[in-house]
Amino acid sequence: MSDRTTQPNPTLTLRVAAIRYAATETNLYELRRPDNSTLPAAEPGAHIDVHLPGGIVRQYSLVTTDLDPSVYTIAIKRERTSRGGSSFMHDRLRVGQLLEIGTPRNNFPLNERAPHTVLIAGGIGVTAIWAMAQRLKKLGREFEMHYACRTRAVATFLEEIEHLEQARIHVDQHCAGRPLDIGTIVSNAPKNAHFYCCGPLPMLNAFEAATAAVPADQVHVECFAPKPLAALDGGYIVQLNKTGQEFAVPQGKAILQVLREAGVSAPYSCEEGICGACQVNVLFGVPDHRDSALSASERESGKTMLICCSGSKSERIVIDF
Ligand code: FES
Repeated sequence: MSDRTTQPNPTLTLRVAAIRYAATETNLYELRRPDNSTLPAAEPGAHIDVHLPGGIVRQYSLVTTDLDPSVYTIAIKRERTSRGGSSFMHDRLRVGQLLEIGTPRNNFPLNERAPHTVLIAGGIGVTAIWAMAQRLKKLGREFEMHYACRTRAVATFLEEIEHLEQARIHVDQHCAGRPLDIGTIVSNAPKNAHFYCCGPLPMLNAFEAATAAVPADQVHVECFAPKPLAALDGGYIVQLNKTGQEFAVPQGKAILQVLREAGVSAPYSCEEGICGACQVNVLFGVPDHRDSALSASERESGKTMLICCSGSKSERIVIDF
């Protein structure tokens, strides 16, 4: 993971320049500045925060990162259990409207120098993985891509991916509903391969199990679904290193909530442990990680945490804030 700062993520006002059909219940949205000038650069794996009415903020991966520097393209699938984000984008957003967008952040960076790369995507998780595949192809690196979808009709970028020599497509419907065999993919890969996965929770769980014995710095996951439980046990003190202020975190509250209620301005966006906006460095204490954004090695290091959902296993935690 690249260095992330605790600075608030600046926003841009972008116009919806085009909405295109991508697959059943999935559209592509092209976002440009009103004057069509160049946008901040983004790497494969990066996402943007999209600010929607009602204070809703959603994270969407960028589809391509180096084809046209004046456009951000995101793919959005209408979620049956939409919490307001995808239904707004599908039902109410129109070409020409303006949207507030966070500048790109990358919680899922690609190691472009890996000797071999295994990319695994499920459903709409293909967005970030497809951006990586295009990049590795352009660089001439050795890689393989596995894309699992329920049916061909719901598969985004299917035609392009079918033309990619390194890609294998797994359609559940054609395999009697059997899911992609991630265990076999991992065990067949070279020992020094780097593994990337973005997809629904059952796929991420299977990936985590299949890569349990792989060194943590070779395993990379992107998750856009919040984990079920924030650390709300409370009963510890959070201390801010820069001001020396201390706050008792009571049961039922997260650190971010306590700081905001005390009038401390801390950056945040999703409040669900998935965007990385609230990341701080830990100077003392043992974090109780509950996010979906940090890598396994970052969690193990104990030197950083996301304060919107993670808590403390120690009686006191000192954050660099
Ligand atoms: S605010 Fe998004 S991870 Fe904490």
